[in-house]
Amino acid sequence: MKSSTAIAHPNFALIKYWGKSNISGNIPAMSSLAITLNTMTSETTVSFPNNLEQDTWILNGVEQTSLGQIQSPCDYLKKISLINQPYLIESTNNFPTAAGLASSASGIASLVTALDSALETKLSSQQMVEVAILGSGSAARSLFSGFVHLEVIEDNLKCATILEADEWPLNVIVCVTSTNRKTISSRQGMEISKTTSPIYKDWVNNHQEDIKLAIQAIEAKNFHQLGKIAEQNCLKMHKVMKTSQPPIDYWNPATYACVKNVKDMQKKGIPVFFTIDAGPQVKIICEPDVSKDVMSVMENLPGLKSIIKSNLGRGARIIHE
Ligand code: DP6
Repeated sequence: MKSSTAIAHPNFALIKYWGKSNISGNIPAMSSLAITLNTMTSETTVSFPNNLEQDTWILNGVEQTSLGQIQSPCDYLKKISLINQPYLIESTNNFPTAAGLASSASGIASLVTALDSALETKLSSQQMVEVAILGSGSAARSLFSGFVHLEVIEDNLKCATILEADEWPLNVIVCVTSTNRKTISSRQGMEISKTTSPIYKDWVNNHQEDIKLAIQAIEAKNFHQLGKIAEQNCLKMHKVMKTSQPPIDYWNPATYACVKNVKDMQKKGIPVFFTIDAGPQVKIICEPDVSKDVMSVMENLPGLKSIIKSNLGRGARIIHE
């Protein structure tokens, strides 16, 4: 029995999904468009120690009491594998977990990649997408490099790179404003919004237009157009959250301060834009030639826990088997 190790990086959505159409299959209610990073890494090793009595998951050195969010992808792979021995999954993130930095996306993408190899299930790319989504709606995007489109038409999923990282080498500056775990998970938050926000229906109905404009901007490498639509889409999602009952508000004072700084930089003509997911962290996207300046502006901002600079990068991959 072989052991396999895979790595994957977080991806951040520029056009986001917020809401599920099918809870049991964990299917997003709308398409999304994201960028995969090349720093911040989740690493997962799957092995088969002789004395193991049941499938076991150790996350960041701590044995988990249940398989939780990874149960469904594990069950799916186990069912089609001919290997029936309990396995040990050891996952680590070299950045804060469950804090709005997409650790579940990179974690699950690395997990399904390592499991597919260790269990010798030889899934097709399409099957990998479907299994990853069982674990986390955004995880499929971390299987792919660069600019990634996750297209959802009813229950049909299609995920692919639409532009490679080196074809438009943007930089991402991640401003970490808190390292606490978020109080409401994305999954819970989406359900609350779907059932209570008066603007949820509009959010779903107008979403495809945002996807279309963003794809056009990426294909044309039009930074200004991409930034405009990404910021609008991000703010719309946070409005859906904030108009939910109870309101969901992930932002903290440093989040607001980061956004203000980005807007100030834009007024000076600096090519930057921001995006924020289900958490208080601000991700700033910029052209590489201004990233040093952006870093020095943000480094002077009080209240930030850390700043991580990244390029766009590769999808999930095996690094050892
Ligand atoms: C705001 O896909 O992480 O980041 O399926 O419960 O793991 P789960 O949710 P997840 O939610 C992502 C929400 C988002 C938007 C996005 O990434 O498109």
